[in-house]
Amino acid sequence: MLSLTIDGKKVEAEAGWSLLDTARQHGIDIPTLCYHEAVEPFGACRLCVVELKQGNNSRLVASCVYPAEEGLEVFTSSEKVNSVRRWILEMLLSECPASREIREMAGQYGVNTTRFEVKDPEEQCILCGLCVRACAQVVGANAISTVGRGAQKEIGSPYLVPGEDCVACGTCVTVCPTGAMGARFERVRGVPSVIMARPGK
Ligand code: SF4
Ligand code: FES
Repeated sequence: MLSLTIDGKKVEAEAGWSLLDTARQHGIDIPTLCYHEAVEPFGACRLCVVELKQGNNSRLVASCVYPAEEGLEVFTSSEKVNSVRRWILEMLLSECPASREIREMAGQYGVNTTRFEVKDPEEQCILCGLCVRACAQVVGANAISTVGRGAQKEIGSPYLVPGEDCVACGTCVTVCPTGAMGARFERVRGVPSVIMARPGK
């Protein structure tokens, strides 16, 4: 077992645990968006940021992908951490202003408006890729991926045509942290009449 401290509390971790795993095992909450225990962590949203202190030095890391190490001093809600989290939430508010979940989470940190440009007031997706990873790693269907480039990037079935790989299990909708996948599920799965019209189906 490894020994470290989180928010001044001595905790133990098994080799291979991340800082997020360790904190949650000890009842310490760290907010996350792109993390789900059923899939490999990817470190996309950075909301799970924590501060590591060593002497006079400190640095910020994403706790879902940073391994627990012997002797680490970890802070989950220091001034620096909360300031970065507020900045991330402000960015997310501009990227997906239509997400109630993001607005609520931002509100918990006192972030109710954004200084950044809002490109699409209807957008809900933060492109965290959790739905894609769940479809591949949990369901094994690989029915969705990132489609397009740059500002046109979005999550969908190949060529944005409802795909036969989708088994309509709804896992992507369940894991999505922003409610975005619920709104685009029909476009991935196809409406029942489209499925019934497929040759041989
Ligand atoms: S649809 Fe949801 S889970 Fe998928 S990338 Fe967008 S926000 Fe993440
Ligand atoms: S939860 Fe760790 S980066 Fe998203």
